[in-house]
Amino acid sequence: MLLSLLIRLENLTPFSSLRSSAYVYPVVLALHLLAISLFAAMIVATDLRLLGWALPESTIAEVISRLRLAKRIGFILAASFGFLLFAAKAEEYYYNAFFRTKMLLFVLVAIHALVFQKSVYAESVHLPAADETPKRARLAASLSLLLWLGILCAGRAIGYVAGRSGMHYK
Ligand code: HEM
Repeated sequence: MLLSLLIRLENLTPFSSLRSSAYVYPVVLALHLLAISLFAAMIVATDLRLLGWALPESTIAEVISRLRLAKRIGFILAASFGFLLFAAKAEEYYYNAFFRTKMLLFVLVAIHALVFQKSVYAESVHLPAADETPKRARLAASLSLLLWLGILCAGRAIGYVAGRSGMHYK
């Protein structure tokens, strides 16, 4: 069921054109990486500040609120370019263990957001200064760094798995 939907998706004209273009696919991959670098910088700065390891001159609330917009834009761009890459070869990625790992890690990121978004990130204005950062905020930051590092590694590993033959490309 899911697989047949993915085969239909990858054979829609925009995605089959993307797949067969020698230039556009690498450009989309480069844009995916560019957006990731913006997004990752914001995640690392926010989480290191929560841990009290960086930007001590700014409060946690300042760091979180100043970086929020850039973080959201970076994520939307990275996810959109990632979706284009995926849709071009959806069937191949369906079988890719690292792609599956990456998607599983996104589910964990969503759970992380459900658990910590309100109590740590949204209400950061109530968090005290660096050396007194509550354990919950430190835990949120550590888990976030681990999850995003895992997503980066899984994303990088996707390309090392040899594609199967017999894909239903039109
Ligand atoms: C927003 C967070 C994301 C991060 C940090 C991330 C990370 C990465 C990394 C590091 C690569 C390797 C690029 C390279 O080979 O040089 C990659 C490739 C890729 N990503 Fe993402 N990604 C993200 C979102 C997504 C999403 C949401 C999707 C799909 C819906 C996606 C699908 C892909 C695909 C299909 C590739 C190409 C793999 C290949 O064939 O080599 N990514 N990603």
